[in-house]
Amino acid sequence: MNANEVLESLEWRYATKVFDANKQIPLDKWHVLQESLHLSPSSLGLQMWKFIEVDCSQLRQELRGASWDQSQVTDASKLVVFCARKSFTHEDVMDHLNRIAQVRGVAIESLDVYKSRILDLVESKSPEVLKAWLERQVYIALGFMMSSAAMLRVDTCALEGIDPSAYDRILGLEDSPYYTLCALALGYRAESDSYATMQKVRFDIKKVIEAR
Ligand SMILES: Cc1cc2nc3c(=O)[nH]c(=O)nc-3n(C[C@H](O)[C@H](O)[C@H](O)COP(=O)(O)O)c2cc1C
Repeated sequence: MNANEVLESLEWRYATKVFDANKQIPLDKWHVLQESLHLSPSSLGLQMWKFIEVDCSQLRQELRGASWDQSQVTDASKLVVFCARKSFTHEDVMDHLNRIAQVRGVAIESLDVYKSRILDLVESKSPEVLKAWLERQVYIALGFMMSSAAMLRVDTCALEGIDPSAYDRILGLEDSPYYTLCALALGYRAESDSYATMQKVRFDIKKVIEAR
């Protein structure tokens, strides 16, 4: 992709309000979009998140009722719910370190210095700071998936206009280590979506990017 094509993708993307319920994302593109979540970066590589792909139409209908009745929830080809961790423990850090040892073929003891750095960082955070930190990671993945979708000419709409507690109940997350933050609808714009041709509203670039 050259520079112009990247810019074209970014300009092509908009928050899709009306999806064509008859158009499905082909499997090969969907696998790439799943990888955009899987390959998203996170602080220290800890991957403290869960992404729930909701394929069941009954569940989608229930979620729409907890999303200000936004049609994207039922009509988009795919719906992903983005979830953060309720807590982060010593065991979670060990899971990550064991995975590094396995994937890179190194002894777990060789990661001892790294381990104490991670534990110091995690344990130094107050509960509020830890919560905000864990949630921020999830939004990085949201951005990754939206940008990847735009490159594949798959439309998206991020959805924070939802009742996260109702999502948790509907998806059975209440007794799990995760809770809902937001959702992402992915698919193809309907011809009737008037938002597709609206001018993008952004502040002047100099107002938001400062060079020092
Ligand atoms: C985190 C997040 C949550 C959003 N929630 C909603 C939503 O619930 N419903 C909706 O129609 N649009 C939602 N949007 C879309 C924004 O309103 C939209 O991105 C913004 O107005 C800029 O327009 P553009 O994306 O078309 O450039 C959300 C966007 C983001 C990034």
